[in-house]
Amino acid sequence: MIKKLSSINASRTANSILLLLGLLFFKPLAYFVALMMFWAGLTDYCLMEKILQRFGFQNTCSTMVSQAEMQVYDAKKHWENIYQTKKSDEVSWFQEKPNTSLNLIAETCLDKYSRIIDIGAGDSRLVDALLTLGFKDITLLDVSSTALNRAKKRLGNKANGVKWVVSDLREFETNDRYDLWHDRAVLHFLTEKEDISRYAERVRRLLKPTGYLIVSTFSKNGPKRCSGLNIKQYSEDSMRKLFSDFEHIKSFEEEHSTPWGASQIFIFSVFRKRD
Ligand SMILES: C[S@@+](CC[C@H](N)C(=O)[O-])C[C@H]1O[C@@H](n2cnc3c(N)ncnc32)[C@H](O)[C@@H]1O
Repeated sequence: MIKKLSSINASRTANSILLLLGLLFFKPLAYFVALMMFWAGLTDYCLMEKILQRFGFQNTCSTMVSQAEMQVYDAKKHWENIYQTKKSDEVSWFQEKPNTSLNLIAETCLDKYSRIIDIGAGDSRLVDALLTLGFKDITLLDVSSTALNRAKKRLGNKANGVKWVVSDLREFETNDRYDLWHDRAVLHFLTEKEDISRYAERVRRLLKPTGYLIVSTFSKNGPKRCSGLNIKQYSEDSMRKLFSDFEHIKSFEEEHSTPWGASQIFIFSVFRKRD
């Protein structure tokens, strides 16, 4: 058994420790069976998950799914649950009209045929305002189909003029290239270095040369958590560092008031991709 243990990699060791803890403190029989089969090499993670579920465990094996799969799965699960249980104006980030984003977009002087993507759009009303202003090439991306369906329903016929993408932004691939990447209150949910790099890499790749990036996150003076999740706070310096190869146009802090009157300090940053 010692030989077997030494041959398994770090994540298998971690999973074995978890199973051992389960064996000691939770349903001993289920964990005993799963642990023995796992060590004997008779199961893979999925089969083990089924065994544990058979004994009445739900989602016990999320620790056994690879880190990347777990995060993709969790983001989807988390946000679908939020949008299925809360109305639009019951979430902290609700805005009747996203005036700051609209002002910043106006300052870019992009024409109405510019290709715009709103990342983690949720059911934000930014799209309503952009359509009213005459913008014709808008893509909304979100990991939650419930959120996007809500926005579609609100827009009615106008929804046909919008591209809808249900995707985790970390997995998003497209041949389209954008004139503007807009993100309000999404980047800060990425707390793993690898995910943040993946985000920045996508911005670099999917923006056209001279395209604009408008991104807003919680500032160092803002909340440390949101929607039950840890977040990463940003300052002008950390934003500039993340997009150091972009032209920095400006950054500023802004107070957002939640529907129940709490104050949240955001930092907005505007960058331009170099030609
Ligand atoms: C705080 S809300 C902000 C929504 C919208 N931008 C606004 O200002 O109203 C964060 C949004 O990001 C989406 N989201 C979070 N993580 C995501 C991910 N990894 N990929 C795509 N969308 C994500 C959520 O579903 C949610 O709609």
